[in-house]
Amino acid sequence: MEKGRIEELNAEFAKKSPQEVLSFFLREFKGKIALSSSLGLEDQVLTHMVCNLDSSARIFTLDTGRLFPETYNLIDNTNKHFGIKIEVLFPAYAQVENMVFSKGINLFYDSIENRKECCRIRKIEPLKRAFKGLDVWICGLRKDQSVTRFFSNTIEWDEANGLVKINPLINWTEKMVWEYIRTHHIPYNELHDKGFPSIGCQPCTRTVTSGEDIRSGRWWWEAPEHKECGLHQK
Ligand code: ADX
Ligand code: SF4
Repeated sequence: MEKGRIEELNAEFAKKSPQEVLSFFLREFKGKIALSSSLGLEDQVLTHMVCNLDSSARIFTLDTGRLFPETYNLIDNTNKHFGIKIEVLFPAYAQVENMVFSKGINLFYDSIENRKECCRIRKIEPLKRAFKGLDVWICGLRKDQSVTRFFSNTIEWDEANGLVKINPLINWTEKMVWEYIRTHHIPYNELHDKGFPSIGCQPCTRTVTSGEDIRSGRWWWEAPEHKECGLHQK
């Protein structure tokens, strides 16, 4: 999709609902569009919206091998709740074995470089495989999640991956997300009720105290501007 067309669509959808954005893309790109879900609150909202619009649309998740048990339970509950099968993608085992052999099982605490390597092997490589045959990638990014996301848009050209990325909830607040989850009785990760507003891999996520930034529990030992795993590169 050309840059000009993306600008046009952003202007066209500026005042439209996430459902209207999704409906357009699911129709226009049927068979070439997928939702990538981390089973986070935003992704649960999007799963509900996508299932209502086209229950055959692809939904996949990247299982890094280091997720919380509660997240695995949620994959199962979400499948049962919506009558769907979320595709679960695993990293290439030989790459994981080599990395762990040379740098240790908890390498991510030793340096930003190690942390990025772990994210690259456990998330980015499987994500690239998931993109085969896709033109559009649906994500749950919101502007107020972090400084790194403030300039994100509803519709973007993802240069690193050569496809269109859409963030239908980009302008939603955390409150709006919770309201939608509660109104529609959508299953969510039980860790959210235990002090975890943003959930990733278990060793790289911790609880936050009230008043702290919602992503401050992710890679808490790193500065805010480094806190992207490489999935959402500008
Ligand atoms: S992360 O980059 O810091 O891990 P975050 O947890 O905020 O991302 O999620 C932002 C969006 O990235 C999610 O809404 C989802 O679309 C995608 N995403 C993140 N982690 C995964 C995952 N493990 N599997 C699939 N998609 C993911
Ligand atoms: Fe590895 Fe942590 Fe990245 Fe998960 S979040 S892939 S455990 S560095």
